[in-house]
Order: sequence, then C-alpha cells, then structure tokens
Amino acid sequence: MEVIEQVASLRAIVHALRCSGKRIGFVPTMGALHEGHLQLLRTSARENDVTICSIFVNPTQFNNASDYRLYPRTLEQDTSLLQTIGCDYVFAPTAEEVYPKQTLLTFSFGALETVMEGAQRPGHFNGVAIVVAKLFNIVQPHKAYFGQKDLQQVAVVRQLVQTLSFDLEVVCMPTVREESGLAMSSRNKRLNDVQRGLATQLYKVLQLARRDLKQKPVPTIKHEVAHYLQQVEELELEYFEVADPLTLQPVADVSSSEEVALCIAAFVGGVRLIDNILVNLKEV
Ligand code: PAF
Repeated sequence: MEVIEQVASLRAIVHALRCSGKRIGFVPTMGALHEGHLQLLRTSARENDVTICSIFVNPTQFNNASDYRLYPRTLEQDTSLLQTIGCDYVFAPTAEEVYPKQTLLTFSFGALETVMEGAQRPGHFNGVAIVVAKLFNIVQPHKAYFGQKDLQQVAVVRQLVQTLSFDLEVVCMPTVREESGLAMSSRNKRLNDVQRGLATQLYKVLQLARRDLKQKPVPTIKHEVAHYLQQVEELELEYFEVADPLTLQPVADVSSSEEVALCIAAFVGGVRLIDNILVNLKEV
C-alpha cells in the first residue's frame, strides 16, 4: 500500500491504472477510520481491481471552527488499519495541496439543502460538494462508496454526479452499528464512556418512532421523540424528521409513502451526532 500526498503523483498513478484497464474503487473519508469505513473498503476491494482511500479533513465543509479543530486525526493508526484490508493507495493531502487557491465556485442543491443537515449547517454541503468533485476528478473512480449514516450527503453526491456527468457509480452501504445500536462515527471518538452510553438513546428512539409510524400521526411521533430525549442528560436534540428517503423532504403523513427515512441529529456532551433508519411501511 502506498501513501500519496501530492495530487500530481496520484494523477500519474490513476492514468497508468486506467490505461491498463483497471477498475478503480474509491472510498473518500476524513480519517479516524472505524468499522463502517472498513466495510466500504472491503466491498470496494471485492468489487474493483484497485482501491483508493482518501483521508482529508476538509476545512470547507465545517461551519463550526471548534468542530474542525477537534475532529479526530489519527493518520498513523488509519494507515496501519488500511494496510490490512486490501486498500492499495491512500491519498492523504494537505489542505494547501487540495486548495492551492481559494475556491469561489458555489454549488446549490435546491430543496435538498434547505432541510436537516443543509438547514442546520449552512455551507456544509457546498464544502462537501467542492471536495468530492475535486476528489472525483483526481481519483477518477469507477465506483465511489459512501455510508448511509450520511443519507443526505449521499443524496447531494448523487445529484452532483448526475448534474456534472461524472462517469461513476455511487454506492451507498448500510450504517454499521456497535452492539449497543450506536451508529459508528469518527465523532464517537470524542465521547467518554458515559456519553457513549447516552448516545445509544438516538438509535433507541428511532426504533420507538419506527414502531409507532402507522399508529400515530407524524406530529405526535415528533413530539414524543423530543419529550423522550429531554429526559436524557447531556443530550440535546437538534432535529428529528420523518423524510422521503430520496428527496429528504419532510413527510407529514406516511399513509401514501412506501418508505420513509427517520433522521435525527443531537448533541451528546457537546459532540454532534447524526443517525437515520429507513423504514419500509409495509413491514411495520
Ligand atoms: O463523509 C465524509 O467523511 C466526508 O463528508 C467526505 C465525503 C469524505 C468529504 O469530505
């Protein structure tokens, strides 16, 4: 496995790989790798000839300076992990390498940006889109792998790929959870043991909401989720939403939906966590 820091070096490698007909799988990450990332990487290694993983804590997608500063950075640990799972190249550039000049281009994703992560984190998806577009241009993958935990990000990336005609397939893989139900996330590294226990309530409340979806109106479920989480110390709910799984727009009445996404964001001990589950209405 080779670690590459320069865009030009990676471009040369990608050019040679493409000329020899190799299929490239790509897993973009911000590092602090966990089992969720590893599953994406294993799948990529299985489905492609070569797997490239990027590790880059992208400054332009953070709308909160302390979140950027405190984001876990564990490059050495990450590269040792990657060595064991069939990753061929790690692209770990500096911010100067990715952004030699200030980026003035801005993306707009319409309604997709006006809800949940888009509404709560202004500019976030613009930053994600800029870096993902840059990475797709550099890595030129045949397939790119993302986790369902960032469901809205996946929708944004799909729209980006479609709008800019990137010749690649976006693969979305299910969220990987700890035994407690807590969705794996790099930000979990910032939680202490007590907070980790409290954070499991997010998945628990998603399950409770799922159970009630056909019995109770959406506003009642929302109210009950908020009330339930108010009882949990150190936990502050930011939003809970019943949404269309593709457009991410709120669903006020599930009676005509086949599937909905239950999405949640909350601060636990000051650390912002998100989670979601997809619910097939025929199965509840
Ligand atoms: O999901 C992430 O880790 C990041 O948003 C991504 C896609 C690597 C872009 O920085």
